Amino acid sequence: MLSLQMNLCSYSSLLSKRMVKCQWNFKCYSISPSSLFSSNTNTTTIRAFASSCQQLNGASSISVAGPHNPLSPISGSMEQVMVEYLFGRKKATEVAHYVWKHVVKKGDAVVDATCGNGYDTLALLKLVADETQRGRVYGMDVQKIALESTSSLLDQFASPDEKELVELFVMSHSQMEDIVPNDVAVRLVAFNLGYLPGGDKKVITRSETTVLALEAAKRILAPGGLISIVTYVGHPGGREEFEKIEDFASRLPIESWNCCKLHTVNRPLAPMLIFLFKR
Ligand SMILES: C[S@@+](CC[C@H](N)C(=O)[O-])C[C@H]1O[C@@H](n2cnc3c(N)ncnc32)[C@H](O)[C@@H]1O
Repeated sequence: MLSLQMNLCSYSSLLSKRMVKCQWNFKCYSISPSSLFSSNTNTTTIRAFASSCQQLNGASSISVAGPHNPLSPISGSMEQVMVEYLFGRKKATEVAHYVWKHVVKKGDAVVDATCGNGYDTLALLKLVADETQRGRVYGMDVQKIALESTSSLLDQFASPDEKELVELFVMSHSQMEDIVPNDVAVRLVAFNLGYLPGGDKKVITRSETTVLALEAAKRILAPGGLISIVTYVGHPGGREEFEKIEDFASRLPIESWNCCKLHTVNRPLAPMLIFLFKR
């Protein structure tokens, strides 16, 4: 059985580089700042967005996660996926996963800003992992139970070598710059906002923290990288969070960013997909 280490530390001790080590079953760092829970878009069509992504990467078929079958293979073209989404046969999170594979390459560094049950973390891992062991997935969540769930999913569906590429942190995504090394060019930062499915619905992403996290993501993202956001308006604070994100996106200069929004208009509570592509 693979034995990894958990480094438990407070936020301040992380900053002073002092880490207390103890055994756990995955590589995890705990950061507990007091602010944990204080957490006119330039819309173009997804076709234009997909086209810019395809210039970057001609990825074909991968195995990525879905809530019901984490190993269900996702293959096909962006066009097929969009058609399926149009006909209500693909969910927003699945569209996001398809978009990622047009941006992320083997060996890349990526961030999962809201690990939750780990489906997105696993999908990202499958995109970056190869025999070079260069890829990295930096994952975070404010709930330890979420990272345990993520780790358990990785145990089931990732090899020990793949799992070595994942670092999990109990912390707010607003502090992601503290754990991604300065010299690492991040290709993608993924947000899947709201609460942990099956968990405590009171522990939820908050608009103020989300905007701080978006600012941080903007700073660490490499040119040609993507900030991917799935946001929900059906829960208290969700609409405000979406509006703050939309406002953030609308202020990004068109010369260096391409920002898209995707939504099923006759399902007002359907998840919103927002992609911020850094040129
Ligand atoms: C919808 S779930 C994420 C789903 C997940 N990506 C998956 O694939 O299963 C949202 C998660 O965001 C976490 N969260 C809430 N506030 C956060 C914050 N400030 N920083 C990081 N994670 C946060 C919640 O604990 C919850 O687990």
